[in-house]
Amino acid sequence: MLSNLIWMFVLLCRSVAEKYGYVMSLILFLDENSIRDADIFPSSPVIERGSSLELSCVLRKNYMNQGNASHIIWKLNNTLIAPGNYNIVNETVSNIAIHNFTYSTAYVNCFMNYSDKELLLAHTEVKSGFRPDMPENISCIYFYDANLTCTWNAGRETSFATNYTLNRKLTHFADSVISCQNGTESCSFFTPSIVYNNDFCFQVVAKNVLGESSTKCIPIPLEKIEKFAPPEILSVKKIPGIKQLLTVTWKMPKKIIPSKPIICQVQYRNLYSNFTEFVNVSLNSKEATGSCNLTGLWDSTDYSVAIRCINNESAFWSGWSGEKNGSTEETAPSEKVDLWRVIESSHSSRNRPVHLMWKPLKSFPPPGKILGYKIRYFPEKKTAAHKRTNNSTEKKITLLLNEEAHIISVTAYNSAGESPEAILRIPSIDEKSSQVIETVKASTTNEEVVVEWTAPEPKPTKYVVEWYEELEMDPFGRSWQYVSNSREWKNNKKNFKPFVCYNISVYSLYGNNVAAPSYAQIYAEEKEPSEGPVADTYILGKNEVTIKWKEISKAKRNGFITSYTIFYKPEDGKELSETVNSDILQCRLKSLQANTQYTVQIMAHNRAGNKTGGQKTFKTLKFDEEDFFFFAIPVGISVLCLIGLWITCVLKKHAFKKVCWPDIPNPEESLAVEWPLAMNPVKNEENYDEEVLKLEDFSDKALFNPYLKNSVKTREFLVSENLPEQNTDECKSQSSVLPPFQPNVPRQSYVTLDMFRLAKAQ
Ligand SMILES: *[C@@H]1O[C@H](CO)[C@@H](O)[C@H](O)[C@H]1NC(C)=O
Ligand SMILES: *[C@@H]1O[C@H](CO)[C@@H](O)[C@H](O)[C@H]1NC(C)=O
Ligand SMILES: *[C@@H]1O[C@H](CO)[C@@H](O)[C@H](O)[C@H]1NC(C)=O
Ligand SMILES: *[C@@H]1O[C@H](CO)[C@@H](O)[C@H](O)[C@H]1NC(C)=O
Ligand SMILES: *[C@@H]1O[C@H](CO)[C@@H](O)[C@H](O)[C@H]1NC(C)=O
Ligand SMILES: *[C@@H]1O[C@H](CO)[C@@H](O)[C@H](O)[C@H]1NC(C)=O
Ligand SMILES: *[C@@H]1O[C@H](CO)[C@@H](O)[C@H](O)[C@H]1NC(C)=O
Ligand SMILES: *[C@@H]1O[C@H](CO)[C@@H](O)[C@H](O)[C@H]1NC(C)=O
Ligand SMILES: *[C@@H]1O[C@H](CO)[C@@H](O)[C@H](O)[C@H]1NC(C)=O
Ligand SMILES: *[C@@H]1O[C@H](CO)[C@@H](O)[C@H](O)[C@H]1NC(C)=O
Ligand SMILES: *[C@@H]1O[C@H](CO)[C@@H](O)[C@H](O)[C@H]1NC(C)=O
Ligand SMILES: *[C@@H]1O[C@H](CO)[C@@H](O)[C@H](O)[C@H]1NC(C)=O
Repeated sequence: MLSNLIWMFVLLCRSVAEKYGYVMSLILFLDENSIRDADIFPSSPVIERGSSLELSCVLRKNYMNQGNASHIIWKLNNTLIAPGNYNIVNETVSNIAIHNFTYSTAYVNCFMNYSDKELLLAHTEVKSGFRPDMPENISCIYFYDANLTCTWNAGRETSFATNYTLNRKLTHFADSVISCQNGTESCSFFTPSIVYNNDFCFQVVAKNVLGESSTKCIPIPLEKIEKFAPPEILSVKKIPGIKQLLTVTWKMPKKIIPSKPIICQVQYRNLYSNFTEFVNVSLNSKEATGSCNLTGLWDSTDYSVAIRCINNESAFWSGWSGEKNGSTEETAPSEKVDLWRVIESSHSSRNRPVHLMWKPLKSFPPPGKILGYKIRYFPEKKTAAHKRTNNSTEKKITLLLNEEAHIISVTAYNSAGESPEAILRIPSIDEKSSQVIETVKASTTNEEVVVEWTAPEPKPTKYVVEWYEELEMDPFGRSWQYVSNSREWKNNKKNFKPFVCYNISVYSLYGNNVAAPSYAQIYAEEKEPSEGPVADTYILGKNEVTIKWKEISKAKRNGFITSYTIFYKPEDGKELSETVNSDILQCRLKSLQANTQYTVQIMAHNRAGNKTGGQKTFKTLKFDEEDFFFFAIPVGISVLCLIGLWITCVLKKHAFKKVCWPDIPNPEESLAVEWPLAMNPVKNEENYDEEVLKLEDFSDKALFNPYLKNSVKTREFLVSENLPEQNTDECKSQSSVLPPFQPNVPRQSYVTLDMFRLAKAQ
């Protein structure tokens, strides 16, 4: 059984082998150790690129029965080489010549082309490249008593590994050579083979498989290529009592060619300005340490120092030492802090919260490390003996002052002392300031927010512009800036959030005294409101309705609301609209159809767009009070008359019988009452008119007491009950054009603690 299987396998193999005769040759090709039919000479040749490649394919004797050398064909990487390049020497030898061989690597095969079959006979790999160029730019670096390293440039790529030999020769004894070898473009001599001697010349020999080239022996004096290890900084110190000076000391490296002058370079960088300076210090090679004084430095400033050294004759600096920092002596800060305050109203006059805040000093040179701030304050009318002091490391503080006027001062201090005082006066609680800026106008340009104001009399020494988000409750969230010699202030829009209302206050300053401010509001950028108003309450009638709505919340206005449009529409009817000013929050729609369902929507406009609130519905009444009145009175009178008549008749039956008994008229026929439903035209769109009620804008016109900055916006309604009747205004007739925006409609309906009105930016 098994022998049968083996026999079948052998038969199969044989038939396959006969069909594909070259399979055997391929097996030979794959197995180098098996008997070959031919050899290529030379095998694995390496030639200079661009030269001619000459190869021979020599058939072995035992192969001759298959064919002779005239049947040999050649291929280069599987591409047939033109037969014109073949040279058949005798029946066993075929030669080939390829001129200008430029491939770096190629495979050359010789095949037997016999009875339409190509049998691989032999193959070889051919490489080409260049002999090495002469090495150039030899340069050496000498670390005294440690090593000597030379580097050079090899020139063009040769395609072959190159070995380099660096020869160090005594100039006058050509045969005393010390060498080092490496496969890269550098080689080092290490101790102890390297001895300090100024009489060496250096030569580099480059060698590869195709040949070698060598440089001349170049004399290089070792002190000119000496390089030190980096020095080490020991200290960077100030000398107590001496300002603007730092003393640097450092340790020299030990391995230095003796008795050569040395230069060290000290680099010092002002860490505040990043300004770097250098100073050179001469030493001699015997000194183990160096030191120098850096002068003309800034007070209270950190410096970073690094050092490197060189032998006077050498071309090579040592590497830089590690950096070390030191600080100069401090002086007291020279500039006042930039101080501001926010005065909060309080129910208790004995505890007025006064929020003080200040900005870091911008003095130059810088004030060094600020350790903290001192806040001093005392009542204006008392002596300095009542002065109290607070310390703070933060740039803000809240003081609780009583109703008296106070003088407060803030200084910054460092280890050397305090800055000059920044002083502000806090007015007493009942003090009225008369120097008020009349108008403040805020506007925007493409890039900036611009605030302009009128100059009050007398002329102030300075102004302060204060700005903060309308909804910002934290007094320390405010920004401020002092302005001198100008009635205008500009700030980049990027410093303001878009779609957020900012309150801007301008204060005039008289010495340390801050006068009452004037206000404006501004949006650096507007967009349409985030939500629209929704009709809220209705007062229904038969032919009219009064619709009220609420203002959009401040956070959702995204701009100044300029007007509202009320859209209303009867079932299956035409949509009508009314537009009213932004200070109006209700509108009476007249000439409506009785007993009809209406839908109503309110659109709010700001300068950037509009937003419509949700839809609401209402239904007009079937009858109204007037109807009832007109109906009830005649009926009542008639009934009374009837009763009177009946009583009279009963009492004076006989006397008036003649009068009473004749035909009593039907009371219904005698009533000459106008039936209002019939009188009022149901449809009268042309001539209808409506009424609106002006309501005060509760939130837009925030009112501030200048000395009660955080106070609740207080107002009192005097005639609020009568308000609708008194202030009744007509809605504008049907018009899609928005009415001109009137920012400050006069209002008499309330009194405020202070009559400073917010001027809206136009
Ligand atoms: C063929 O030529 C080569 C070299 O020319 C020679 O060595 C070899 O003996 C020759 N072979 C025969 C069979 O003549
Ligand atoms: C090679 O063999 C062919 C016949 O196949 C013959 O004609 C030719 O003369 C032979 N060439 C040499 C050089 O022996
Ligand atoms: C060799 O070939 C290269 C490109 O293949 C060519 O640039 C060069 O001129 C040739 N040289 C000769 C001598 O033909
Ligand atoms: C020949 O083949 C080898 C190996 O695939 C390749 O590295 C070489 O570049 C080829 N040469 C040419 C001339 O195609
Ligand atoms: C191989 O030999 C056949 C004749 O046997 C010939 O027609 C063909 O051209 C040869 N091939 C090459 C590449 O020389
Ligand atoms: C030579 O010696 C210096 C100093 O000891 C050392 O920093 C450098 O790495 C050494 N160079 C080589 C190539 O070993
Ligand atoms: C040879 O060169 C390598 C790389 O540049 C270097 O690391 C090595 O130290 C060198 N050998 C000698 C003996 O200089
Ligand atoms: C280069 O050096 C290595 C080892 O020192 C050696 O094996 C190789 O043959 C050398 N090559 C040349 C082209 O001299
Ligand atoms: C100083 O330079 C450092 C790094 O080079 C940088 O981080 C820093 O901001 C610079 N300081 C100044 C004031 O230019
Ligand atoms: C640095 O200055 C101090 C004080 O003036 C002086 O005592 C010291 O000798 C100076 N040091 C150097 C290296 O000049
Ligand atoms: C403030 O600091 C000073 C020292 O800088 C200290 O004498 C004083 O007692 C401190 N005052 C308070 C209230 O902490
Ligand atoms: C409301 O704004 C839209 C764009 O958002 C605009 O097309 C439309 O005309 C505005 N309507 C009114 C009445 O301003």
